[in-house]
Amino acid sequence: MDHPGATRMADPLHNEFPPESLEARDLRHLLHPTTNLKLHHQTGPRIHDHAQGVYLWDSQGKQYLEGMAGLWCTALGYGEEELVRVATEQMRKLSYSQLFGSKSNEPSILLAERLTRMVPFDLTRVFFGLSGSDANDTQMKLMWYYHNAIGKPEKKKIVSRWRGYHGVTVASGSLTGLPNFHKHFDLPIAGVLHTDCPHYYRGAEAGESEAAFVERIVGNLEALIEREGADTIAAFIAEPVLGAGGVIVPPAGYYARVQALLAQHDILFIDDEVICGFGRTGKPFGAETMGIVPTTMSLAKAVSSAYLPLSAVLLPEFMYEPIVEQSGQVGTFGHGFTYSGHPVCAAVALRTLELMEERDLFAHAARVGGPFQARLRALGDHPLVGEARGIGLIGAVELVEDKACRKAFAPSRGVGAYCMARCEANGLIVRALGDSLAICPPLIISADQVDELFSKLATALDETLAWLATG
Ligand SMILES: Cc1ncc(COP(=O)(O)O)c(C=O)c1O
Repeated sequence: MDHPGATRMADPLHNEFPPESLEARDLRHLLHPTTNLKLHHQTGPRIHDHAQGVYLWDSQGKQYLEGMAGLWCTALGYGEEELVRVATEQMRKLSYSQLFGSKSNEPSILLAERLTRMVPFDLTRVFFGLSGSDANDTQMKLMWYYHNAIGKPEKKKIVSRWRGYHGVTVASGSLTGLPNFHKHFDLPIAGVLHTDCPHYYRGAEAGESEAAFVERIVGNLEALIEREGADTIAAFIAEPVLGAGGVIVPPAGYYARVQALLAQHDILFIDDEVICGFGRTGKPFGAETMGIVPTTMSLAKAVSSAYLPLSAVLLPEFMYEPIVEQSGQVGTFGHGFTYSGHPVCAAVALRTLELMEERDLFAHAARVGGPFQARLRALGDHPLVGEARGIGLIGAVELVEDKACRKAFAPSRGVGAYCMARCEANGLIVRALGDSLAICPPLIISADQVDELFSKLATALDETLAWLATG
């Protein structure tokens, strides 16, 4: 029996869905994450039914090319039987075990070993969680715990960037630099500082060269550090290529300048590889593509190709040792989740990484990244596209009202959302981030499927242009 209140929100919907349809039941009971809830009650949900490889079908039987790898995560595509097999076997063998209180399990041990071997940096310790958000919360807590342990209790603030995306929990949502994730949630919390987004196209002043832009924003970061005091700042967090903020590839020289500044002030570098990790940018990790040598790393999404949730924080030994000492004094290291090191998630992630190696997936992604970027850049000539940007198998087109002066559309016109809807009508899933359309297909995509993706996107852009012409 529904609680009488359950139907209350359904009243203003006036939707056409039969009461027992999945759509109507969705509208009665779900609170959708990261959704315009008001609009949702007018349009209803689109229900995904099944998927295989890079294609997905909705409950009406319509087929889509999955141009967003789900939420930037289904690197191996859908329906991978090997992962089904491994999950089933692990569930039968040991469906759950914990890492609390010195308990352990084989899949977690093997996965930790593999991850530390895989990353090209001196990171020796792995903490497991379930989401990118909890990984970045863990990062923040570890920065605090570590700095307390080494007798620097003042060194606690974390610098993040506007338009960076690091999650939605209280701490990671504060690190996220997108106003819609702060507004009315009373975020960001104290101790999180935001600095410039390294987006030349949107951030440059009139006539400013890329090099001058880098100097200016790094100068702003330097001023922030001086203002706050370097001895109060623990770390800087960055996605090598910003994802949910609009797919932004920072200009050449940016990370070299940032890292030199951080080193000068003894500020650590948290590398959020939740999207960029595992071949997305043309190399195994985004840090390698962008020339970053991080202190710690956050991994999630592609690590298990989203078959099951898993995240990992990787730490260097120099942080681990004082943490061990301090936990000995306290009597426990008081941080961990029930599902940290869940054996089924770990087994699936381990097999995901093995499959990536067996199939040479990173090399494939780097190869297909060539035609992907060529087709993407060609869309830069479209009258609606102000900037076509990306690297490897990730990209975005930013739609503008006036290309010459980079004038954006008024957000109320919903141009990005309209174009995304046209993509869907043409059988392509992309994601509108404001008026930027993000594209991030499964890494298994073929060159022919890349052609299909961009042909559908070009059609949707033409249809959007025609719609705008009608006023
Ligand atoms: C770079 C980055 N960090 C963290 C997160 C948060 O991950 P989750 O949604 O799994 O909490 C995301 C999610 O998109 C992300 O893109």
